[in-house]
Amino acid sequence: MARAGLAALLALGLAAPAMAAGDAAAGQAKAITCAACHGVDGNSLNPEWPSLAGQHESYTIKQLQAFKSGARQNVLMSGQAMALSDQDMADLAAYFAGQKPARKTADPALVEAGEQIYRGGNKETGAPACLACHGPDGLGNITAAWPQVSGQHATYTAAQLAAYRSGQRSTDGDTQIMRNVAARLTDDEIKAVASYIQGLQ
Ligand code: HEC
Ligand code: HEC
Repeated sequence: MARAGLAALLALGLAAPAMAAGDAAAGQAKAITCAACHGVDGNSLNPEWPSLAGQHESYTIKQLQAFKSGARQNVLMSGQAMALSDQDMADLAAYFAGQKPARKTADPALVEAGEQIYRGGNKETGAPACLACHGPDGLGNITAAWPQVSGQHATYTAAQLAAYRSGQRSTDGDTQIMRNVAARLTDDEIKAVASYIQGLQ
């Protein structure tokens, strides 16, 4: 990505509007309904269901709003978000942000290829290095609502990359940041980088 483009995106992130303050204790009580799929502490046990532990509040709220509005759709998740108020979302996001992500590992056979994409991108296809936005350790960027991706289930991550690539997921908005990134990734690259990310912490 051109330096000017990245700077403009950073500026956009910094200008993001303030959100309702979340109360983590209230969020913990409300999170009981989420536990069946995302785990009591936001560490899900099913690799198709994302872990939420340690995720930035701004990003979690943005996704809950997207499920509620229908901008992002999922049979299991959409109905859950419908029932949430803005305050519920802020409280839940505050609770999950304070939870510790469980440690996971990458598939040793995929580490090298995955690290190559994550840190260097692919110059031939123009795929950018993921660390430019998600950071060297996959922690993302709080202010810009760029998600933490480290420690996430590889199965879930690969499914999201495929969904951006097909355009099925468009929560990246007008910038189409992630759709443009994923459009340049092959199936093998998605598999490798998703596994590498799972091992990051
Ligand atoms: C019946 C299972 C189920 C329950 C209960 C559930 N979720 Fe989900 N949730 C999912 C699935 C599956 C996804 C992934 C959807 C997709 O693939 O796009 C998801 C995705 C999410 C995401 C997006 C994560 C990301 O990294 O983008 C958030 C945030 C979320 N859920 C929050 C919640 C909260 C808060 C609750 C409780 C109020 C909840 N979920 C209850 C199944 C569930
Ligand atoms: C220019 C910045 C930028 C770059 C480069 C970038 N991302 Fe992203 N990524 C984002 C943003 C912003 C979002 C959130 C978009 C949304 O809300 O749907 C995101 C979302 C994601 C998600 C969804 C997370 C979740 O919990 O559902 C995954 C997975 C992801 N990126 C992986 C990658 C990978 C792998 C690469 C490198 C091949 C990459 N990204 C490169 C900015 C970037």
